[in-house]
Amino acid sequence: MIRLTLFSFFLLLVFPAQAETPIIQYGDRFHPVVGRDGMVVSQERLASQIGADILARGGNAVDAAVATGFALAVTLPQAGNLGGGGFMLIYLAEQQKTIALDYREMAPAAAHRDLFLDDQGNVDKQKARFSHLSAGVPGTVAGLVEAQKNYGELSLAEVLKPAISLASGGIEVSYPLAYSLQRAEQRLKISQASAGYFFRADGSSMKPGDNWKQADLAKTLKRIAQRGADGFYRGPTAELIVDEMQRGGGLITHRDLQQYRVVERESVSGTFGDYTVVSMPPPSSGGVHLIQMLNILEGWDLKALGHNSADYLHRLIETMRRAYADRSEYLGDPDFYQVPVARLLAKPYAKLLREGVDLDKASLSSDIKPSLEQYQESPETTHYSVWDKHGNLVSNTYTLNFSYGSGISVKGAGFLLNNEMDDFSSKPGSPNAYGLVGKEANAIAGGKRPLSSMSPVILFKEGRPVLATGSPGGSTIITVVLQTLLNMMVFDMNVAEATAAPRIHHQWLPDLVILEPGIGADTRAKLKQMGHKVMPEPRVLGRTQSISNFGGPIFFGATDYRWPGGAAVPVN
Ligand code: GLY
Repeated sequence: MIRLTLFSFFLLLVFPAQAETPIIQYGDRFHPVVGRDGMVVSQERLASQIGADILARGGNAVDAAVATGFALAVTLPQAGNLGGGGFMLIYLAEQQKTIALDYREMAPAAAHRDLFLDDQGNVDKQKARFSHLSAGVPGTVAGLVEAQKNYGELSLAEVLKPAISLASGGIEVSYPLAYSLQRAEQRLKISQASAGYFFRADGSSMKPGDNWKQADLAKTLKRIAQRGADGFYRGPTAELIVDEMQRGGGLITHRDLQQYRVVERESVSGTFGDYTVVSMPPPSSGGVHLIQMLNILEGWDLKALGHNSADYLHRLIETMRRAYADRSEYLGDPDFYQVPVARLLAKPYAKLLREGVDLDKASLSSDIKPSLEQYQESPETTHYSVWDKHGNLVSNTYTLNFSYGSGISVKGAGFLLNNEMDDFSSKPGSPNAYGLVGKEANAIAGGKRPLSSMSPVILFKEGRPVLATGSPGGSTIITVVLQTLLNMMVFDMNVAEATAAPRIHHQWLPDLVILEPGIGADTRAKLKQMGHKVMPEPRVLGRTQSISNFGGPIFFGATDYRWPGGAAVPVN
């Protein structure tokens, strides 16, 4: 993979130590940000800068990731959070080891299977998505604190300091933040606390350029800096959370908070040609189905079909359809349900699924069933990636579920509550907010973690990490990440090209393919001719935040162009 071109030659002048040139060449339509001593890419510029500053001061990738995570809780309130949960993959260069931290929310002990059913046995969507009942016990603070304690090098107080300064000193409201808050006004104003936190004193919307201070959030962050996870799960913050629950009829108790646990799980991995893909195991469905889809796709010569040609997209759609059918049946919290990971990831199973695809004609989702038995053997979430000069890296996705979660803030504590309980299957076959259906494996139970699609990924080639990526987007996360990987592994795109290329999505049910703007009219027409049901309006899919490194001290970063305000910040 040596492509010595004009642009590469320029890189060699700037970074003479670099002997082998990574995949980037003159004439590419999009170029990544280039850094030598590390890189942080997130959906919000200030938070990326804070992570990069921590790297520049000698912190490692985990220090920078924890600092960025807490900073996003201040600067990106729609998805950065203290009141949500997520997954963090950490690669430790010296030990050549990947750690998968599960800090997903847990259902409160009093939650039960029929929590969201009304008298007629139908799912009460308001209750599942916008009430105090929709909040799972938050995992973010425990997850970030544990990552820092076990794998960071600076003190927790040091990595929290920038976030505390931003919350207490205030940030300048950016255009994307003002826009996002305005769109969420109706939902946020249902909560008296949110109305106070996210709007001007007279109730009007904040405007770009306003200074926005978050005094209660600063106090909560200070308690975490002083007492670690106990600053959140015990003491004044816990009191405020439980008071909020009692006021609003929620379920989270002191005992639930004290019993919250981060779980260090074994990552899932699979191969695709020369590459090894490492991702998050259940309760994420992301890693399993990403690898399952790559297993199916590797049986076709994708490159020969041409990027985003109708024949290529047909294979992608049929692959997605089958993987999401399996998701509905077999995936859930592995602490409650035995997820058949090894069987789902077996190459012969992928072959069986591939052989069921008619190469000229779309299948009907109603004809595709979860198939293991045939085989014997928010949008809103946010991702960030960090890479340090020692080769350690973090790929982290965390979420409140929807943008701004349930919209309900904890009065006095300054943060929003997630509505992750809607990621459970409230009733077999009844779709959640993302149109995803599920059954027993993902039924509600106290202490259980709802199934997720969050798919932080680290891609390896010949044993070395070459890419960290991930995306928000609810059910679309897995297919967005899949296409980003294929763009690089099969079509040799650089990380910026791979980010920018138009994407598609299919999730079995509803039987509908979403095409991004940029998939041409001819392709759309050919897919329809093959029998695919194409969503009439194009829609934008995902917001990846990625870093690649194909050898030597050159990091390439790309924030997703689909949302303004993100930044790849290099350390040089
Ligand atoms: N809340 C979106 C997900 O975890 O998949």
